[in-house]
Amino acid sequence: MDVCQPILNTGLRGFKVATTRISLVDGAAGKLVYRGYFVPDLAGRVSFEEVAYLLFYEQLPKKEELENFKKQLVSQRSIPPEVIAALKTRPKDALPMDILQASVALLAHHDPDTREYSREATLRMGIKLVAKFPTIVAAWNRIRNNNEPVDPNPDLDHAANFLYMLNGTIPDEELTSFLDTCLVLHAEHSFNASTFSARQVASTRAHMYSAIAAAVGSLSGDLHGGANARVMQMLLDIGSLDKIESYVNHLLDSGGKIMGLGHAVYKTDDPRAHILAPMSKKMGERTGELKWYEMSTALEKTGKKAFKERKGRDIFVNVDFYSASLYYYMGFPIDLFTPLFAIARISGWAAHVIEEQFGGAGSKPVLYRPSSEYIGDYCGPEECAFVPMEAR
Ligand SMILES: CC(C)(COP(=O)(O)OP(=O)(O)OC[C@H]1O[C@@H](n2cnc3c(N)ncnc32)[C@H](O)[C@@H]1OP(=O)(O)O)[C@@H](O)C(=O)NCCC(=O)NCCS
Repeated sequence: MDVCQPILNTGLRGFKVATTRISLVDGAAGKLVYRGYFVPDLAGRVSFEEVAYLLFYEQLPKKEELENFKKQLVSQRSIPPEVIAALKTRPKDALPMDILQASVALLAHHDPDTREYSREATLRMGIKLVAKFPTIVAAWNRIRNNNEPVDPNPDLDHAANFLYMLNGTIPDEELTSFLDTCLVLHAEHSFNASTFSARQVASTRAHMYSAIAAAVGSLSGDLHGGANARVMQMLLDIGSLDKIESYVNHLLDSGGKIMGLGHAVYKTDDPRAHILAPMSKKMGERTGELKWYEMSTALEKTGKKAFKERKGRDIFVNVDFYSASLYYYMGFPIDLFTPLFAIARISGWAAHVIEEQFGGAGSKPVLYRPSSEYIGDYCGPEECAFVPMEAR
């Protein structure tokens, strides 16, 4: 049976390639579910560690289980001195997502679990990467600013420890809980581009680090995780409320895209955006500069209207739209917005790698190998006659 024809050049939209027990994205209803739990019910009520546990172990942890899991994460936060030394040799203007991707590959050299193809070893590698992602990102930000990396603080939870390693000071509760909620909201999102990249690599039985390095590369693109940084850049470029309309009209008329709008699956507003928007407002109030939140809401309204006028259909906000101003208010450098996304999403990616390799949905692991339609009509219907070098 030729299954290729109906999905050619559609970016696999709507095409189910596997079963999963990890999450559900219902685009029509605007619903996101992690392992049976509606994500808006989790946000603000559970920590990132609880969500990572849920993704790995299929249930929310009991108190003692959570304590043990946290201890495991704390014990794995450090990265080898050789990796820190390597980071110190990198050009200071290297892109943080490239640094993260390279660091994941470097970490593989130091982990004997890469030699063992088992569920236990793969889970251990996943937990190690969840623990180490914040350390890599924070260390790189300090190194590129000519500061020494700050060692992880075992007394702090995941979100607080990241802020501590980044800034060198213990963060306040509000900032920590906002970051924690952002991590919960970004932890998992079914078969998006980066998760599919991870699963595709995992399907070859390559180890966790290889799969995750591929996922980091995929997330870095502007149409995927890179969009949050592009949204903030757009707000800064526009500069003020009165310039939004002309900016949007010019952008759409010249074939550009409004970053943070549109989604391959959601046909309504992204449910995460409705949680992030009030958080952005609150942070704006805290910093005394509501401008970026107000510009975001105006840009959302103007962008949606201008898109409908041109295309005759609706477009919706996605997760990256309000996380941009929120992260900006929280003081993160713009080029760390996407690494922040990765610090959360590593938990979902790792759960998917385990599921891809060792089942979980009653599925048998299978090597991904799609087909393509060859349109190499170079020499008409026949193959080309070989021409030796002298005669070309
Ligand atoms: C995410 C995205 C790739 C999903 O795209 P999609 O809806 O599946 O499909 P397409 O990219 O093919 O878009 C369909 C049409 O809508 C337009 N469109 C989609 N998103 C748009 C946006 N943000 N601004 C302007 N036009 C947009 C496309 O240009 C295309 O127009 P056409 O039919 O005239 O060619 C797309 O919406 C996008 O590029 N958004 C901006 C980047 C972004 O925010 N990414 C983060 C996603 S979480």
